[in-house]
Amino acid sequence: VSDLRRIDVTHELGSTPVLVGEEALEAAQLELGPWWRDRTVFLVVSHEVDRLHGDSVRQPIAAEAARVVTLKVPDGEGAKTMVEADRLWQAMAFAGGKRDSRLITLGGGSVGDLGGFVAGTFLRGIEFVQIPTTLLAQVDASVGGKTGIDLPSMKNAVGLFVHPEAVVADSRLLSTLPEPELRAGLFEVVKMAVLLDPPLLERVEEELAHLLAGDPVRLSEIVARSVAAKARIVERDPRERDERRLLNLGHTLAHAIEAQQGYSGLRHGEAVGYGMLFAFRLACAGGLDRELASRIHRLIARIGLPPLRAVAVDGLWEAMTRDKKARQGGLVWVLPVGLGEGRMVSGIDPSAVRSHLQDFLEDPLARPENWAVEPELRI
Ligand SMILES: NC(=O)c1ccc[n+]([C@@H]2O[C@H](COP(=O)([O-])OP(=O)(O)OC[C@H]3O[C@@H](n4cnc5c(N)ncnc54)[C@H](O)[C@@H]3O)[C@@H](O)[C@H]2O)c1
Repeated sequence: VSDLRRIDVTHELGSTPVLVGEEALEAAQLELGPWWRDRTVFLVVSHEVDRLHGDSVRQPIAAEAARVVTLKVPDGEGAKTMVEADRLWQAMAFAGGKRDSRLITLGGGSVGDLGGFVAGTFLRGIEFVQIPTTLLAQVDASVGGKTGIDLPSMKNAVGLFVHPEAVVADSRLLSTLPEPELRAGLFEVVKMAVLLDPPLLERVEEELAHLLAGDPVRLSEIVARSVAAKARIVERDPRERDERRLLNLGHTLAHAIEAQQGYSGLRHGEAVGYGMLFAFRLACAGGLDRELASRIHRLIARIGLPPLRAVAVDGLWEAMTRDKKARQGGLVWVLPVGLGEGRMVSGIDPSAVRSHLQDFLEDPLARPENWAVEPELRI
């Protein structure tokens, strides 16, 4: 029995189908045949993912396309640089890319963010499809139209909103994913669940062992629920002017940690795990019920975070205030206010936040009962 699911994300230019399940690739082949037929198709893929999955994705496309040009990029965050974007633009121009050429990204969120950005800008935009191969990219990065690259000092500093023609999230692609990558993806699921879908949170709590063992059916279910939750919020606020900013829960600190570690320390999802713990600390100092904080802390601990390598409070603080989520009036925090509910909070006294950050860095995994209550935050 096929578990194929189709979730449509509507946006200003139409709608993007997200195909989820164990047969998503076959379904996509049928649906997208006319899209790539007789066209030049650029396949943007990292070395490792090409080795694992390149042939099985390339072959059916090559049978119908005029040609498939494989463009390899580094694995991981190192793909999201101006140098790589430039290399791709030039390679596509050199290979005779035209406005009606197609681009397909095959890889994690890094490859998807870079490839989407390059597709959205080459010749002022060519059509593209995302085939996410990590849990994080399937549940989050491939959905919603955000693409971009990093600057050394600022994550996701340059990019654009541009939607793919389709997203193909086939859970079989996750079968080769190393366990730490699965764990990293689960932190983004927890983020979405705690803000938007409490029953999803329960499901992750109950099924964690199966999910970490890579059970494709359960993973598909988690992906479909997360995509549906994200799709709803993206549809209401496509340009992240309001409600969509909630999805940045944990990201102000996460992006600062990543930049401070030169994008070579924690995985993005892990940085988000730490970022959520800090957001819950701030929320508790502002009066949030510790029971919810304890529940999330327990789940994050079960998923498992690697140690947070020493990062200086000054550097983090500077990186956070540079973050693009900051506004003229200072930092805007996404704070949980209850299960299934978050709020954007600005105007928190910076010295109080800094004091909590200092405490956090001394013992980032401390249990909520040991979190500092002072200084109390007025939020
Ligand atoms: N655009 C968005 O809305 C959005 C949302 C969330 C995150 N992101 C971005 O996504 C990026 C993180 O993405 P990620 O967590 O997917 O990491 P990633 O793309 O860096 O990939 C992680 C590692 O997994 C490997 N890999 C990928 N698929 C594999 C597979 N099937 N089998 C074996 N190995 C595989 C890659 O080679 C890489 O080494 C960050 O840059 C983050 O900013 C973007």
